[in-house]
Amino acid sequence: MPLTDEQKLVRDTRNKNMLVSAAAGSGKTFVLVERIISEILDEKNGIDVDRILVVTFTTAAAGEMKDRIRKAIDAAIMKNGADGRLRAQATLIHNAHIRTIDSFCSWVVKNYFYEIDMDPSFRIGASGELKMLNDNIFSDLLSAKLEEGDEDFKNLADAYISGRRTDTLRDMVFELHAKASSFAWPDEWYDSALKLI
Ligand SMILES: Nc1ncnc2c1ncn2[C@@H]1O[C@H](COP(=O)(O)OP(=O)(O)OP(=O)(O)O)[C@@H](O)[C@H]1O
Ligand SMILES: [Mg+2]
Repeated sequence: MPLTDEQKLVRDTRNKNMLVSAAAGSGKTFVLVERIISEILDEKNGIDVDRILVVTFTTAAAGEMKDRIRKAIDAAIMKNGADGRLRAQATLIHNAHIRTIDSFCSWVVKNYFYEIDMDPSFRIGASGELKMLNDNIFSDLLSAKLEEGDEDFKNLADAYISGRRTDTLRDMVFELHAKASSFAWPDEWYDSALKLI
């Protein structure tokens, strides 16, 4: 089945940012794979496959993309086995960044931990474990702030803590934290939010 004119445009346009939005099952992934393959196999300006970053949401999608690109490289080698650059791609694909967004982020942090003063032996916490850590940090912070006796904080505590029940305040803090964490620069987001008051 040949590509439609629109699919060809998506495959062949270069040096531009592109957003492709189309109905489910209309061939978005198909044409993206076609595009990657044509960038790799381009005779004049071919890009090495390990210089391309492809991120997906699921491991299955990443696996399928990698598989299809690998097959296309193998097919090209079958046609033109003498091409050294082409044969190199079959090796480079093993280290290609065709992975989930989570796995890519984890790779960046593991390889550049020293840039952000991160312990290189870090690991991803399980959700129950993270919740416990968060709860402990919240309790410690709450005790410390209450002891400090800041007037504004006392008013906040009076309004949102009833007896020994701190969950309303805790939920608000966590909700705010989650919102701030969704921005690239959370501290700046907090500052701009404060200016609205
Ligand atoms: N021009 C084409 N020639 C041959 N097959 C095509 C063409 N366009 C799409 N297909 C086929 O259509 C099917 C659906 O394509 P694809 O999975 O890429 O769609 P999608 O838009 O990514 O779907 P989703 O929204 O579910 O992710 C695939 O089997 C793909 O091979
Ligand atoms: Mg798809």
